[in-house]
Amino acid sequence: MEIVVVDPHTDLYQQVFDLREEVLRKPLGMSLLNEDLSRDYTDTIMAGLLDGKVVACLMLHPKSAETVQLRQMAVYDHLQGRGLGRELVAAAERLATDRGYTKMILHARQVALGFYKSMNYTVVGDEFAEVGIPHYAMEKVL
Ligand SMILES: CC(C)(COP(=O)(O)OP(=O)(O)OC[C@H]1O[C@@H](n2cnc3c(N)ncnc32)[C@H](O)[C@@H]1OP(=O)(O)O)[C@@H](O)C(=O)NCCC(=O)NCCS
Repeated sequence: MEIVVVDPHTDLYQQVFDLREEVLRKPLGMSLLNEDLSRDYTDTIMAGLLDGKVVACLMLHPKSAETVQLRQMAVYDHLQGRGLGRELVAAAERLATDRGYTKMILHARQVALGFYKSMNYTVVGDEFAEVGIPHYAMEKVL
């Protein structure tokens, strides 16, 4: 998988948008079109490409000089379970480390807890609701 940082003014951004909509919002009966997307223009968007097409994505949102938040993690359904998500998270951790961050945090959907645990993220605190479903705060020292 080729991994790139995506400029929000390009066609690749539209492909990332479509992936997020398909995997993260449609199953919940929601749409990104009803959300404030201003952070898309300031966060770092990372995408995994197969044959030049976006198949995996995530975004990195700076929280402080030390801490960055991983968000909008998605892999197309038919390509899940093949190691693509893990590969993209590893690339994001390297990029964050290169930029001087020492901690990654995220809000994990309950169904994705095992995915993050397999990469040594740990749960901090109690379950809470986000986009109407259970989530857990997780973190990893980089
Ligand atoms: C969660 C998601 C990003 C994982 O990406 P993926 O490419 O399918 O995951 P990988 O194939 O890289 O899996 C890496 C490891 O996590 C495990 N894993 C993946 N998804 C898992 C899940 N839902 N529950 C438990 N373990 C999981 C895999 O078994 C693998 O472990 P292994 O290396 O020991 O075999 C992807 O399945 C997805 O987009 N899901 C729907 C959207 C979603 O829930 N996003 C996360 C929002 S917080």
